[in-house]
Amino acid sequence: MDDEQQAESTTSADGDAFETTHAVHAADARDLSAVETDSIDLVVTSPPYPMVEMWDDLFEQLAPEVGDFLAADKGEAAFEAMHGVLDAVWDEVARVLAPGGIACINIGDATRTANGRFRVYPNHARITEAFEHRGFDPLPDILWHKPANSAAKFMGSGMLPPSAYVTLEHEYILVFRNGQRREFEPGADRRYEAAYFWEERNRWFTDVWTDIRGRMQELPDDELRDRAGAFPFEIPYRLCSMFSVYGDTVLDPFWGTGTTTLAAMVAGRNSVGYERDPAFLDRFERQAEDVPQLSQDILETRLDNHREFVTERAADGDTPDYEADHYDFPVMTSQEQQLRLYAVDEITVTEDGYHVRHEPIEE
Ligand SMILES: C[S@@+](CC[C@H](N)C(=O)[O-])C[C@H]1O[C@@H](n2cnc3c(N)ncnc32)[C@H](O)[C@@H]1O
Repeated sequence: MDDEQQAESTTSADGDAFETTHAVHAADARDLSAVETDSIDLVVTSPPYPMVEMWDDLFEQLAPEVGDFLAADKGEAAFEAMHGVLDAVWDEVARVLAPGGIACINIGDATRTANGRFRVYPNHARITEAFEHRGFDPLPDILWHKPANSAAKFMGSGMLPPSAYVTLEHEYILVFRNGQRREFEPGADRRYEAAYFWEERNRWFTDVWTDIRGRMQELPDDELRDRAGAFPFEIPYRLCSMFSVYGDTVLDPFWGTGTTTLAAMVAGRNSVGYERDPAFLDRFERQAEDVPQLSQDILETRLDNHREFVTERAADGDTPDYEADHYDFPVMTSQEQQLRLYAVDEITVTEDGYHVRHEPIEE
């Protein structure tokens, strides 16, 4: 980002329209040299999963010894070499993440047979070690429960003990912080306006997510989303809303189809993405014109869900105590009173990404 864009990225939300920038680099994330040291507030990403076969070719391209280890059936050595590729990206993440910044890494473990031995390759544990080694503090993580197709679920497991294996139906969202908590000036608009609803807090800050489906994930699936192993929109959107404020900058070094950038746009955060496969960047550009409508739909759904929540509580004789400053509904706590949602009003393609204008959603 140039100086002017950096200045925009710190714009406070205070009821006025504001702008965000979204840079996307078709480049290898082992070198994030276009990103300044300590300039990122939140990382949300899902790397290629070591020892999951769909990513073997990519790891071989990035570290040729991976191919040798796989050919020789040396599972543990291949696992370690694949994590060596990710480690180089985590080094860069450690450089660019500001003090107090948070990194959220979506990762699944892998099961595989090598040299006649079936075992789990614990990617989540290896990545936790990698972040601890770089000085980050692990925070409580989230288990994302992904219901498997029940017909395929127990294939080959039989009915006789003790040689069947349980089905892996969860992935992790590992959460790390770079040092102490961030400090904000008292009453900072961009923090208080970025509040979430009490009932959202109760769902989002639970450590097992079983509800990642439904109306807020209306992204069309296509061959490229499958090829990228894209995560549902709701994952980065929740994480941006939970762990950053308006005007912050979110990095995804394994950008894929750009779901994190889309979430950052809808959430009113700036973003930076790195992706080595340029086909994904073209796909995003073709769909960019749909972002204002998507943003309107998602934010209206949040407001409607809250109204429904209030109606249900009122029916039980338990209307929330506080009035929202900017909307005609009550809220449960004083911390939600200044909450304000900003919809994407306009998106413009720039030399290295996108410029987005956000307008407050008024009553
Ligand atoms: C699991 S996918 C991410 C999917 C993404 N979260 C989405 O919703 O579309 C991992 C992505 O990282 C990219 N990738 C892998 N290694 C990379 C590297 N060293 N630098 C940049 N991109 C890389 C792959 O091409 C792939 O698109």
